[in-house]
Amino acid sequence: MPLPQPAWTSDPKLFAYPTVRQRWPTIVRDAADECRRAGIESVAAKLSHLLGDFESDARVTAFPEDAVARKPELRAYNESLAALGTVTWRNGPWLFLECYLYQLFDDWFLEAGRKFDVFENLKTSTFKQLSAGVLELCKRVDICCDELKKSSEDDLRLLFIEFADILLWGNATDLSLLAGNVTLQDIRSVQGAEVRKKNEDKILVNDIEAAWAHLDKKRGRVDFVLDNSGFELFADLCFSIFLLELKLATEVHLHCKEIPWFVSDTMPKDVEALVAQLEEPGFFPESAHIANFAERVRALLAAGKIKVLHHPFWTQGGNFWALPQLDLYSDLKQLSLVVFKGDLNYRKLTGDLQWDPTTPFRTAVQGLAARLPILALRTCKADVVVGLKSGEYEELARQYEAAGHDVGEFWTSSGKWAVISFLGN
Ligand code: F6P
Ligand code: MG
Repeated sequence: MPLPQPAWTSDPKLFAYPTVRQRWPTIVRDAADECRRAGIESVAAKLSHLLGDFESDARVTAFPEDAVARKPELRAYNESLAALGTVTWRNGPWLFLECYLYQLFDDWFLEAGRKFDVFENLKTSTFKQLSAGVLELCKRVDICCDELKKSSEDDLRLLFIEFADILLWGNATDLSLLAGNVTLQDIRSVQGAEVRKKNEDKILVNDIEAAWAHLDKKRGRVDFVLDNSGFELFADLCFSIFLLELKLATEVHLHCKEIPWFVSDTMPKDVEALVAQLEEPGFFPESAHIANFAERVRALLAAGKIKVLHHPFWTQGGNFWALPQLDLYSDLKQLSLVVFKGDLNYRKLTGDLQWDPTTPFRTAVQGLAARLPILALRTCKADVVVGLKSGEYEELARQYEAAGHDVGEFWTSSGKWAVISFLGN
């Protein structure tokens, strides 16, 4: 069976379309302002020029040789681009172009001799505004760790499910969505426990029980292919503490991005920054629960129980299907679970192809099936979605349009629905 086509930026029925025309310009404009504030005029000028390229729908060109010399993995981008033929910003494969875009930013900073995370202030200021959610979760972690060591197997199962749920909706804090239609108020509202309950019927595929059964049997290492820093990373750390303290995992490995990526993705320095923010007087209102949390994370990092890792594989331009062939895989295959967080990781698991929505997840991950124990926790913020029941996609499109949205199909990118997909190995 030939594979379906990838999501393309020229298709008005896909979220790729407004992304290139509205969301990327907002992100680039904000980044240019941030560069000016930091006195990095050369990159600010390039970003401003890029806005014109979006507008005129310029051709996307290969990275020059000096860029490849600075960063050899850009050669693979050039090879993919050559294989695609002529591609413009508004007429090309969305996933590849968006990855290329963040590599382009990074190269401009490298060229200017600066190691600069242009999104860092945004990451920090957003996290600072989420103190209520942080406090609620720190309390919960204290309760779990102190009281639940004597808990029954069924308590553990319920807590696993509850934490997975928190993790899932923690993904709604992707800051790149702030450039579009989600407000900070929305972000806050999905964090409350009550709202989480109400959101249960918004989880369209829910394999969490199967994931629990697998993890409970293995109780080995758990890896997280991380997504966003700030609140989502904080939720990942809550889950990590829970798994380690209750002996559901022996070690947790956190896989980070090496460069600023899709605005808010976690780089290794963001993990350290987050713990420091929790410790910093005045960053959040004073609380023993928050202090305990920071102490627990520090202790687990120092003991090597939580490891913070990075690899250029996570910032390549394509899907994840080659993962089993990489050196990373020899390291990953002993795992009890690999948790892929968020929307972009889901797009890379499924190739960002236009699969029929009833395609089984097993088919959509192609070469990864049965090779790794995969748990994908994803709020839907792009077009691709698989594993749905027959007619479900169309029914949601009808409902979304009836609720006043111009394009019914955009329910898949609204962040209001989610999927939890599991595949054992
Ligand atoms: O939906 C907008 C978007 O920027 C997509 O391009 C991308 O897949 C996603 O958000 C990033 O979301 P997440 O942080 O959950 O991977
Ligand atoms: Mg992200």
